[in-house]
Amino acid sequence: MKTVQELLKTAYQLTLEHLSGRPHVGSLLLPLELKKTLGLKLNSEGASDDVIQKEMSNFLSFSANTLTPQFQNQLFSGLNPYALAGDWLSTIINTTMATYEASPVGTLVEKELIQHMNSFVGWKSGDGIMVTGGSNSNLVGMLVARNTLFPETKTKGLGNKIFTAFVSEESHYSFDKAVNLMGLGTKNLIKVPADKNGAIIPSALRQKIQESIARGETPFFIAATAGTTVLGAFDPIRELSVIAKEFEIWLHVDGAWGGSTLLSKKHRHLMAGVELADSMTWDTHKMLGTGLISSFFLTRHTNALRASNDSGDGNYIFHDSENSIWDTGPASLQCGRRIDAIKVWLMWKALGDNGLEDLVNQLFIKADRARDLIARMPELELMFESHMLNICFRYKDSKDPDKLVINVRQKLLEEGHHFVNYSTRGGKTFFRMIIANPELEESHTRNFLERIVTLSKEMN
Ligand SMILES: Cc1ncc(COP(=O)(O)O)c(C=O)c1O
Repeated sequence: MKTVQELLKTAYQLTLEHLSGRPHVGSLLLPLELKKTLGLKLNSEGASDDVIQKEMSNFLSFSANTLTPQFQNQLFSGLNPYALAGDWLSTIINTTMATYEASPVGTLVEKELIQHMNSFVGWKSGDGIMVTGGSNSNLVGMLVARNTLFPETKTKGLGNKIFTAFVSEESHYSFDKAVNLMGLGTKNLIKVPADKNGAIIPSALRQKIQESIARGETPFFIAATAGTTVLGAFDPIRELSVIAKEFEIWLHVDGAWGGSTLLSKKHRHLMAGVELADSMTWDTHKMLGTGLISSFFLTRHTNALRASNDSGDGNYIFHDSENSIWDTGPASLQCGRRIDAIKVWLMWKALGDNGLEDLVNQLFIKADRARDLIARMPELELMFESHMLNICFRYKDSKDPDKLVINVRQKLLEEGHHFVNYSTRGGKTFFRMIIANPELEESHTRNFLERIVTLSKEMN
């Protein structure tokens, strides 16, 4: 049996090899093939350290490599080294954010980050908490909205009211999950039409709200999306805030993807009016590469988060003391909560606001270059007008361009050099390339696009 030091040294060595290692994303094996390759079976006898080392190595080799710039399948790619170091520190300190006493530094670091991030939103005060992802943050937004506007629902439930929530048809599916979890009914999440480039149509929102009121329902929540998942569209927050005010509805902004544009003087206009919103989701693990999970729920209201979440008899853990106002547990849906804040804070401390602004600006420059390259390749067409890091395109000259996208993507996955996603809108299927990795160079994009053209010609 290895000592703890030896075991960690092995894991560290494998991690370093992984960091500097394969340039490709990893070929995708079918589940049954992969099952045969891995020593998955758990037995009554333990395994030797050699076997353990091999399985550690298998885990790294057969997982998708999201560190390489050719990983463009998700809204994240690459990993900031300060954030990685912070993640290791959080793992080894292995404590919970529930109370100040169990996590004094983590608590202060999280509060500092939230205050700083709120200042980028345009809020001088307010509150916030780190959560298990953008989906969870959207759920928290909906919960805080309902419990703040209708405090009796926290203790008495929904009564005979039908609460309705409004999002664009391009919004993330986490809102459907949120209404389900909150017992509101999935059909009471009302989807509002978006324009041809994916932004919500404000007049359609007003009409849907009026129709809901006419049916005797209680509209309580609008979510604007800042950076939609597929097209990268930004809903016009300022216009939505006027509607929210008119009908006394909570306005949440889902900035899971686009929230980081607030760091850039050049691009923050995409979220103009965000300071008028009541709450916001912001994932730094997406555009800023802080590693999954680093996700924030932010609100301009000072007491709403704690008042909405605090429930049950927690006196076995939350003791009355002069420090207890610092406890974040009562404001969270979780009890045990990892210190995700340390990784984001370490990176922010190292790079400063200016370094992060540069990071965001550079990604936008890379995305513009990718769009230019596509525009100059006669075989390819851009599907939407976008200024974000989502690039939706496909091969033009095909009898069945939709099927071709899916087949070419499958071939790319088998080759293991490029990992890109596809999506369908208005009956058309296209590649969705995401620019999120600061290491991405123009040559990567050129090679990738050329490979798509070559394969499309061959497979057409
Ligand atoms: C716009 C938007 N909101 C929310 C989410 C959910 O975020 P998470 O994956 O952190 O739960 C995503 C994920 O892609 C997203 O694109």
